[in-house]
Amino acid sequence: PETGCLSIIVLGASGDLAKKKTFPALFHLYCQGFLPPDEVHIFGYARTKISDDDLRNRIRGYLVNDRSASPSEEVSKFLQLIKYVSGSYDGAEGFQLLDKEITKLEISKSSQEGSSRRLFYLALPPSVYPSVCRMIRKYCMNKSDLGGWTRIVVEKPFGKDLDSAEQLSSQIGELFDEPQIYRIDHYLGKELVQNLLVLRFANRFFLPLWNRDNIDNVQIVFREDFGTEGRGGYFDEYGIIRDIIQNHLLQVLCLVAMEKPVSLKPEHIRDEKVKVLQSVLPIKDEEVVLGQYEGYRDDPTVPNHSNTPTFATVILRIHNERWEGVPFILKAGKALNSRKAEIRVQFKDVPGDIFKCQKQGRNEFVIRLQPSEAMYMKLTVKQPGLEMSTVQSELDLSYRQRYQGVTIPEAYERLILDTIRGDQQHFVRRDELKAAWEIFTPLLHRIDNGEMKPIPYRTGSRGPAEADELSAKAGYVQTHGY
Ligand code: BG6
Repeated sequence: PETGCLSIIVLGASGDLAKKKTFPALFHLYCQGFLPPDEVHIFGYARTKISDDDLRNRIRGYLVNDRSASPSEEVSKFLQLIKYVSGSYDGAEGFQLLDKEITKLEISKSSQEGSSRRLFYLALPPSVYPSVCRMIRKYCMNKSDLGGWTRIVVEKPFGKDLDSAEQLSSQIGELFDEPQIYRIDHYLGKELVQNLLVLRFANRFFLPLWNRDNIDNVQIVFREDFGTEGRGGYFDEYGIIRDIIQNHLLQVLCLVAMEKPVSLKPEHIRDEKVKVLQSVLPIKDEEVVLGQYEGYRDDPTVPNHSNTPTFATVILRIHNERWEGVPFILKAGKALNSRKAEIRVQFKDVPGDIFKCQKQGRNEFVIRLQPSEAMYMKLTVKQPGLEMSTVQSELDLSYRQRYQGVTIPEAYERLILDTIRGDQQHFVRRDELKAAWEIFTPLLHRIDNGEMKPIPYRTGSRGPAEADELSAKAGYVQTHGY
């Protein structure tokens, strides 16, 4: 591993993302020894003029350590690593000061004899990415003669459509090289999303079955049982497709559908993901259902006549040898009846079925990303007893039972560690981002222009009934468990 001073700079330090995700993830890494205090400094940077202690107090409440015997002691030690610098996002002064502070600490640790590593985490709205990147490039790059690096981490939304995303990519691309840019999609840090590659390519079971000959349809579903909760202003500008489907669900689709990469090198994996995206056919209007939950517009930050979907079902079709004719049903919604994210691979009926088992349901392989990570296979077995009748049952691998005592890391924790280690496998490459926007931009423009309207649905329901009808039309058959 690299040695020398590591400075982690969280820009937008007083914002929601930093408080709820970035600092807690850093804390967990610290507790596990990945951020040794003699090498690491953490800086918060934002416009508000507050002291180091003010920032520490603001984030203290979000640092929960259920893995340590004396959590409060750990919290205090971690907070001592954090310093705060205030400044604007487009002026030289703040960034010069930030550079001075980082350099000062780097020099004080120079006995370490190592390179200097600077990781800038932009927990900021994308509108300020270009100016912030310009300032970092101009004033805050690693200058150590002993080597090291400067990396930046950016969060979605990366633009609002193809043009704006490309513009953003070019602006950042003029300042940093691709290996320095880490575009986070936190779904790629989830345990069961990371497991997809292993599952598909390390198991003989799946290799021959994973194609159009055997699979009837694939559903990738995201449900939340709460609404926009104070984020109405942000959400209304983006909507569920930009918030969840174009990034999180599409990334999952890539891993479900891609061909075997040449090796595990990040570029090989990302090459295969891009190919999937480039093979997606244009979305048809009749294969889209949009919804908006009743009460969404009561949020004072949401305009009274908002046309923004809080729910969408979109069918994607991949035009290649493996997937021709297999619908990928992507479904996401807020304020629904449950909180769940899962992949549901439904197999075709058994040809010449002598048991009439299809009456009970098809074979299905379900990968539940959250809550309670699990994988299970729905299959038909003989009903135990004297009669020769069949019943649908499950082969079940529930992580909580199977891996008792193993803590599953948070997505952000894993991804931040990857940025420190320089592993880009679980980050979105520029051409992937472009291909993802190419798929959804025409549909998004039609929605933005009011050509497609969301159907109202009740809070706490399954979403519009039309969505279930669309899935059924695409071939999905509701199965019944035991
Ligand atoms: C974020 C979205 O990217 O993902 C939120 O902006 C959503 O709207 C969140 O709530 C869901 O993440 P998770 O990890 O809780 O499924």
